[in-house]
Amino acid sequence: MTDRASAPTGASPAIHTVGLAKRYGSQVALAGLTMTVPRGLVFGFLGPNGAGKTTAVKLLLGLARPTSGEGLVLGAPVGDVAVRGRVGYLPELFRYQGWMRAREVLGLHLRLGHQPRPTWAAAIDDALRTVGLAGRGDDRVQTFSKGMQQRLGLAVALIGRPELVVLDEPTSALDPVGRHDVRQVIRRLRDRGTAVFLNSHLLTEVEQVCDRVAVIDRGRVVGEGPLATLLGGGAVRVRCTGLEAGALERLQAFGPASAADGWLAWAGLDHERVPDLVARLVAEGARVYQVDVTQTTLEERFLQLLAPS
Ligand SMILES: Nc1ncnc2c1ncn2[C@@H]1O[C@H](COP(=O)(O)OP(=O)(O)OP(=O)(O)O)[C@@H](O)[C@H]1O
Ligand SMILES: [Mg+2]
Repeated sequence: MTDRASAPTGASPAIHTVGLAKRYGSQVALAGLTMTVPRGLVFGFLGPNGAGKTTAVKLLLGLARPTSGEGLVLGAPVGDVAVRGRVGYLPELFRYQGWMRAREVLGLHLRLGHQPRPTWAAAIDDALRTVGLAGRGDDRVQTFSKGMQQRLGLAVALIGRPELVVLDEPTSALDPVGRHDVRQVIRRLRDRGTAVFLNSHLLTEVEQVCDRVAVIDRGRVVGEGPLATLLGGGAVRVRCTGLEAGALERLQAFGPASAADGWLAWAGLDHERVPDLVARLVAEGARVYQVDVTQTTLEERFLQLLAPS
C-alpha cells in the first residue's frame, strides 16, 4: 500500500496520520484524519465544537485507541509508550490535586518522564519562569487562580524539553496579558526547535502564532496549509480617474476586476502585488486617489471552509 503511515526517510514529521478514525458505538468522533505536521513549527488545529479535535489529540497521545487508520508521532506508532516522554501535553480539562505544591506537580511529571533526579530543580525553575510563575513554586495548587492553574498546566506540558508539545485550548482561562504571555512561550518553543500542535478556538490567537493551520469539520480536514496560503489574498479597492480606454481589460491580469462608483475592485489579490497594480494603473493613465486593502481574516476563511457546500 502506498498510503500507509510509514515513516518517511530523514527526520520523521512531528505527526503523520492516514485515515485515523474513532467511533464510540454508533457515534463517529473522528471520521478519518489524514495530515502531516512538520517539525519545528507551530501548527494550528481548528474546528467547530464537536469536530473531533480533542478526540484526535487523545488518539495521537495514546489516551484512546483508534477504531481504524494509522498515525505516527515523532516517527513512532500512536500509543507507543516510549515516545510519550518526548511529547508534552496540556489537556483540555485538567485539575491537579489542590494540596500539591506547584513544584511537586512538576516533579511528579519529571518522575513519570523518567528524567534524572539531579536535573529536576533546574528544569522546574526553568518551567516556572517560562510560564510566569517564578516564585510561586512552593504554593499549593488550591491557592492558584484559574489562569495560574492553566499556566501550571502549560509548565507541565513544556517541562523536560519535549520535542513536540500538544496544547488543547491553552488560553481558555487566561486574561489578555496571559494570552500574550502564552503566545510568547509558544514562539520561544518554536525558536528552540520544538514542534507545537495548538488546538484552539481563538482564531485571532491562532492567526498571530501559527505557521501552518488545519481546519477540521466532522472529523475530516477541510482546509490545510501555510497560514498565508490558506487565507489567500485580500480585497483591494482603488479610487481613481482617467483610465485609458481598454485599460480595464488589460488590468484583468491582476484577476477579475469590477468597476463601480469610481472604484475598481479586485478580490483575492496577493498583497505583494498591490504596488505593481498601482504602478500599472498609473502607467495606464489613472490618477489614483485612494487604495484600500483588506486581508481576509482567519475567521472569514474558517466560516467559508465550514459553509455547507
Ligand atoms: N467518550 C466519548 N463517547 C462518546 N462520544 C464521544 C466521546 N468523546 C467524544 N465524543 C463525540 O465525538 C465528537 C467529537 O468530540 P471532541 O471532543 O473530539 O470534539 P472537539 O472538536 O474537541 O470539540 P470542542 O471544540 O467542543 O472541544 C462529538 O460529537 C462528541 O460528542
Ligand atoms: Mg475539544
